[in-house]
Amino acid sequence: MLTGIERPKAELEELRQRIARLKKELNAVIVAHNYQRPEVQDVADFVGDSLELSRKTTQVEADYIIFCGVHFMAETAAILNPTRTVLLAHSAACCPMADMIDDTDLREWKAKYPAAAVVCYVNTTAAVKAESDICCTSANAVKVVESVPQEEVLFVPDQNLGHYISTKTRKRMILYPGYCITHARLRAEQVKRARELHPGAPVVVHPECSPEVVALADAVLSTSQMIRFCRESPARTFLIGTEEGLLYRMRNENPGKEFYLIATSLICANMKRTRLETVVETMQSRRNAITVPEDIRLRAKLAIERMLAIT
Ligand code: 13P
Ligand code: SF4
Repeated sequence: MLTGIERPKAELEELRQRIARLKKELNAVIVAHNYQRPEVQDVADFVGDSLELSRKTTQVEADYIIFCGVHFMAETAAILNPTRTVLLAHSAACCPMADMIDDTDLREWKAKYPAAAVVCYVNTTAAVKAESDICCTSANAVKVVESVPQEEVLFVPDQNLGHYISTKTRKRMILYPGYCITHARLRAEQVKRARELHPGAPVVVHPECSPEVVALADAVLSTSQMIRFCRESPARTFLIGTEEGLLYRMRNENPGKEFYLIATSLICANMKRTRLETVVETMQSRRNAITVPEDIRLRAKLAIERMLAIT
C-alpha cells in the first residue's frame, strides 16, 4: 500500500511522463527527502537529508523547486531562495514536531534564560528560526552547539536530539519538551529483540529516537549519514531505527546487504502524503507555494546561514 509497487507499471509510467513534461514547462527541479515513497524518490532530481536538501536548493538552476517532503523543509528552501518559487508537493504535509513550538512560546522561554544561546533544530517554523541564534540539523547538531560562545544553550524543539547532543558536549543544554511522534514509537525492547534475531548486525538509529533506544545503538546518525555508514561498513546485515522510506535507498544502493526496519510502526504519515498524483497536481496548478514574510525570512535566513557556514 505504501510503496506503490503493486500499481500497474503503465499507470506509473504515464505519471512519470507527465511529471517530466511539467518539469520542462516550468523549468523546475524536484527534490525529495529520504523518507519519501520509492516512486517519488525515483522522479526526484535529488534525494537527501535535511542538510543536503537545504544546500542543494541553493545550487540548482530552476524557476520552480518542487519539494517532496514536509512543510518546514520547503519553507527552508523558500527562505534560502527568494527569487524562486517553492511548491510543497502536498499542501497538508506537516511535521508535528515542528508545530510543537511557535515563536510566542520561544520568546517566553528565552526571557527566562537571557544568557543562553538559542539553537533550533531545522524541524521548526520560519518564525521560530527567526527567534533563534543558529539552526542545526541532525547531521551537524553537536558541531553547531559547540560553535556558540555561550555556555548555556536553549535547544528547540526536539528533546531527544537535545539529549543526544548533551551526551557529546560540555555545554549546559536546556531542552524544550518536543519530540517526533514517529521515532517515539520505537521502543528499547524492540531493539533488544531485533538484536536477538540478528546477532552481530549493527543497530543504526536516528537521534530523534528516545535516549533508551539511542543508548542501545551502534551508530546515531542523520538519514544520509546512515546511508553512508551502511555503505562503508563491512557488515552485511543492518538493523535500522528510523522512518521506513530510508530503506528504499539503502537496499537500492547496497544490493548485497540486508536491511531490517526494527519496528513496522516507523512510518511518518506526513511524509507519505506525497504521491506521484500530488506531484502532478501541484505542478499543474502551481498551488502550495510557500511564502515567508520578508522580515521573518531575513532573520530565519541568518540562523540557517550561520549553520551552513560552519558545516
Ligand atoms: P534528517 O535531517 O536526518 O534527514 O531528518 C529529518 C527528519 O525529519 C527526521 O525525522
Ligand atoms: Fe517530523 Fe518525525 Fe515525520 Fe521527521 S519523521 S517529518 S520529525 S514527524
